[in-house]
Parts: sequence; structure tokens; C-alpha cells
Amino acid sequence: MNRIKGLLALHSPGRGPKTHHTSFTKTWPSASTLSHAAKSSVSVGKEIDYYSKFSPSPLSMKQFLDFGSENACERTSFAFLRQELPVRLANIMKEINLLPDNLLSTPSVRLVQSWYMQSFQEILEFKDKNADDEKITYDFTDAVIKIRNRHNDVIPTMAQGLGEYKETYGTDPVVSQNVQYFLDRFYMSRISIRMLLNQHTLLFGGNVKVNPAHPNQIGSIDPNCHVSEVIKDAYENARNLCDRYYMNSPELILEEFNVKEPRKPVTVVYVPSHLYHMVFELFKNAMRATMELYGDTTKYPPIRLQIALGTEDLTVKLSDRGGGVPLRKIERLFTYTYSTAPPPSIDGSLAAPLAGYGYGLPISRLYARYFQGDLKLYSLEGYGTDAVIYIRALSTESIERLPVYNKSAWKHYKTIHEADDWCVPSKEPKDMTTFRSF
Ligand SMILES: Nc1ncnc2c1ncn2[C@@H]1O[C@H](COP(=O)(O)OP(=O)(O)O)[C@@H](O)[C@H]1O
Ligand SMILES: [Mg+2]
Repeated sequence: MNRIKGLLALHSPGRGPKTHHTSFTKTWPSASTLSHAAKSSVSVGKEIDYYSKFSPSPLSMKQFLDFGSENACERTSFAFLRQELPVRLANIMKEINLLPDNLLSTPSVRLVQSWYMQSFQEILEFKDKNADDEKITYDFTDAVIKIRNRHNDVIPTMAQGLGEYKETYGTDPVVSQNVQYFLDRFYMSRISIRMLLNQHTLLFGGNVKVNPAHPNQIGSIDPNCHVSEVIKDAYENARNLCDRYYMNSPELILEEFNVKEPRKPVTVVYVPSHLYHMVFELFKNAMRATMELYGDTTKYPPIRLQIALGTEDLTVKLSDRGGGVPLRKIERLFTYTYSTAPPPSIDGSLAAPLAGYGYGLPISRLYARYFQGDLKLYSLEGYGTDAVIYIRALSTESIERLPVYNKSAWKHYKTIHEADDWCVPSKEPKDMTTFRSF
């Protein structure tokens, strides 16, 4: 039970609300004002304002595991989520509202907003319900499943909204920068909310806590995630796609370096589906670059993959010889919708495309950052690219990285972008004859 308290304590008044700016500060209401607020029919907008004033509580991998351990119960998870989900939802809903009006008014963005609104209200329904009533916790789990399904298509719908906006209003560098900043935070928030929803449904949604397909997993977390197995699986699936498009595919050379326990395979406490997502995307990119560069030859340079486990980092490096990318363009590859592949057809064909949405790298980087890791690309233009995933080796260091709505975030959208504080290089040589020597 101590653990339970520990988790709930994250929301205790002692932790306090955000205090970044006067308009964001708020003192915690007493129990009596809380129930009063609940009784009065305040509008959803007010509820969003209220919950957005609390900072989300990042959980560590260890806390996630404790939630799923023997003595954790549905009641604890329920009590935590009915407070934390509205906080996370409200924080990001406030940020959606800072997008340009013309983007907010596209049908797709409105649809996404309506999903958030609906889910927010559905969770609030449980605010004052009795956590000891089994029927209540059962209904809550049902609501959680419904919410998860409602939000399945957030990414393509949001992408559609951005497309609609671009088509009508074109592109503007300030808007693009704000949208990139927003999407990174919005999708990170979504990853985190889905993580919470998934853990709850996987642990309490069925009759048995143990998933027969993954008996050792605690929800979606594998306390003993076998890194090379996940990687080989991702390679095989990417390779199948590559074979389908190019009739061939590069081989894989895999090496492992385990500093902690040499000769033992590298394992880590991690979410295997996140690791899979990242390496699958990187494999597809590496394969496409290799196949495009080598054209019709029959032999292709292999993809080299190295896994290293040190005391602090678990590093996965994926190296291809697909010709690389100039440094000038590297950051651009992480922008949403940037792709050099033709847009995948949406003719209803079931074949998953190898590339074309441009979401592979930015979303993969978010997965890496979600538990305090990172994803970087280092390229040797004319030769090939190294993509490196950094994961925290220690589960105590793997703590959710969550966006918070506060004055600094607000400023990002509202600041007028002034002139650059670095000189703009000129291609024309300067007329030095006008300079006097001192
Ligand atoms: N290993 C690589 N070698 C060369 N170019 C790459 C590599 N990885 C990514 N790119 C470039 O980055 C772009 C964006 O990649 P990504 O975000 O995965 O979207 P997509 O694969 O759908 O185009 C690709 O279209 C490609 O031009
Ligand atoms: Mg890709």
C-alpha cells in the first residue's frame, strides 16, 4: 500500500500547482471548494482551465512496474488516472487553442479537438465516484478502452488538417516553426496518455493480468526486453516490405557489446513496441536509401547494426551506405510531412508503404525522448547515414518526459520572431575599397 501512497502523493497539495507566471498560479482548493466546484455546473472550458493549472506527473519505468506488481490494484490505478488524465488532456488542449485560427477551423482539427473534449468529459464523470465500488472501476476501465479507440486516428487526422491549411493558406516560416513545436509536444502528450491508457487496460481490462502472448510483460513493459530480438523482428518485417517494392533487400550485420555482462545478450526494462517502432522506421529508411542508390545491381551493401550497453546508456546504431544526406538538410528530416518519397496511395490497398508520410523520423525521436533518451542522425554525404538511438540503461532514469502548458510554452507561440542574431552570409564579395584602415 505504501507504493500506492507514493504514486498518489504525486498529486498531493504539497507538490503544488505550477507557479511560472501569475496568470498560471493557483492555490490548491480545499476539499470543500472542490466538492462545491463539482456540484456547480461549471462549463467544460472552466474545467479545462482548472486542470491545465496542474503539472502532469511524470512516472518512472519503476513506478509503471510497481503499478502492475502483485499488490497493485485496479482501485489505485483508477484513483491515479481520474486525476492525471484530465491534467494531461487539459494541458495539451490549452496548447491546441494557441494554433492559428485558420488551422483550428479546419474540419480535421475541429474533429480532433472534439475527441479531446469528449474524452476529457468522460473521465471527469468519475471525479466523485466511489473508488471502492467495483462497478465503478469496471465502468472506468470500459471508458478508458473507449477513449483509447476514439483517439486511434489522431495522427492522420491532424496531418490532414495541416494539409488542408497548407493548401488554402500556403506556408509561412513562423507558422511552420510553431506547428513543428506544437506537434512535437502534442504527439509526445499523446504517446504518454496512450501509455497510461494501455497500462490500465492491459492490467485490468481482461480476466487475467498476464498477457498470454507476452507472459513476462507488465502491461506493455518488458522488464527483460531482449533488444536484439526486437531488432531482428523489425528487420525481418522491414525487409519484407523492401522485397515487395524493390525485389531485393540489404542484409543485416548485427553486433552486441555488453559492458555489464560480456557475452550475455543486452536486455533493458523498456516498452518493446516503442523500440520496435523506432528501429522499424530506421530500417525502412536505411533500406530505401540503399536500394535507391544501388539501383539495379544485385548486391547491396549490408546494414550494420550495433547494440552497446554501458552503465548509463543503451545505444543502438544503425549504419547504412545509402549515400547519406547533407548536414544542411538533417534537421529538416525531422519535420512532420517532410519526405522525399512519393505520397503513398490511399486507394485502399492493404500494402503498408515503405515511406512517404514523413512521420517516421519525428515520431521515432519522440518515442526515444519519451523515456529520456534520444534519436540522432549523423550522415556522411556521399557515403551513408548512421542513425543512433539512445535509451537510458537504468530503469530509475527512464522517466516520462512530458510537455507542460505554462508561460514558457505560451511564449513560444506568441513571441514575434525577430531578426536572426547571426549574420546572413552573402554570396557577393564585399567591396573592401570603402573600408578604412584604423
Ligand atoms: N538513412 C537515410 N539515408 C538517406 N536519407 C534518409 C535516411 N533516413 C531518412 N532519410 C530522408 O528523410 C526523409 C524523411 O524520413 P521519414 O521521416 O522516415 O519519412 P519517410 O520515410 O516517410 O519519407 C526521407 O524521405 C529521406 O529523404
Ligand atoms: Mg521513413
